[in-house]
Amino acid sequence: MIEYVDICVGLAWGDEGKGKIVSQLTKDYDYVCRWAGGDNAGHTIYINDNKYSTHLIPSGVFHGIKSIIGPGCVINIDSFMKELDYLKNNGFDTSLIKISPKAHIVTDEHIKKDMNKYKELIGTTARGIGPCYMDKYARTGKRVNEYKNILEEFIWDETLHGKVLCEGAQGIWLDIDYGNYPFVTSSNTLPYSACSLGFPPQKIRKIYGAIKIYDTRVGIDPDFPENLRDNKELAQIAEIGNEYGTTTGRLRNVNYLNVDKLIKALHYSGTTDLIISKIDILEKVKVYKYIYKEQIYIFSSSEELLDSLKKIIKENNNYVSNIILSRSPKKI
Ligand code: IMP
Ligand code: MG
Repeated sequence: MIEYVDICVGLAWGDEGKGKIVSQLTKDYDYVCRWAGGDNAGHTIYINDNKYSTHLIPSGVFHGIKSIIGPGCVINIDSFMKELDYLKNNGFDTSLIKISPKAHIVTDEHIKKDMNKYKELIGTTARGIGPCYMDKYARTGKRVNEYKNILEEFIWDETLHGKVLCEGAQGIWLDIDYGNYPFVTSSNTLPYSACSLGFPPQKIRKIYGAIKIYDTRVGIDPDFPENLRDNKELAQIAEIGNEYGTTTGRLRNVNYLNVDKLIKALHYSGTTDLIISKIDILEKVKVYKYIYKEQIYIFSSSEELLDSLKKIIKENNNYVSNIILSRSPKKI
């Protein structure tokens, strides 16, 4: 019996610090599950001052909790094996990791296609994600159950019990439907899509929504023009905030927090618990601004900015019942 399901989702373009949040929550659950995407994601977590990063495997494994890669995910077997070795070498119990037999396999052909076409066109991570989903929806893809020999010990029996945490990959504005199409990823990043793991929506209890106090974007997006990099304040936030992609090492474009988009993201996601991180970065740079109704608002302190932000959220949303501030880098 499933008791309840909580979901952690990124409310922006990925890189909102979900890895850290999930790994702080994990100990209270029986399962940690991924529902979409593949090794295009990058999760960074700290345990006892050691930094770890994974791309595919859910972070439950760092805490001795069963970690499921769901049917909506896509698996590059080589990078899965590499990640397994990495986890094993660092002393983690990899027998906790299970993969849905329905998940799709990313092939070398998919990666080639992504490299040769979509990397340039869309600014993808070139991990073969889009072409793999193309085959999935064309019904010509290969699923994990066809690779039983290699993956046999990892095949999930498709059951969940007790308390379940679902770990979002990417973020709401990279969703195939809700993002700035075609500059999106090829899967559903909204929390409803976590139900593809095989539980009914009634089981969902909390939605943890993650944002940073400023926006960042990797890859091509006309809403994040290159000239943002000429803005000295934003460049400083990028530098002090260490805004480089975990997966590709690319410099992220930075902008002030877009509050209009945040309000929409809170609405689409049904966020009950909002987690805002990296406030300390603004404090270091001493820039306290956000964008609201297409205007830049300037504040004199982080408290003033946050008070105003909380007021706007309260006026526009009645799902959010908790706002949590998380300063970085915070170790667990
Ligand atoms: P793809 O998922 O590799 O096809 O890339 C599509 C778009 O999503 C590109 O703009 C990528 O930069 C972006 N993207 C994919 N995964 C992530 C992620 O985990 N964090 C941030 N951006 C991502
Ligand atoms: Mg990430």
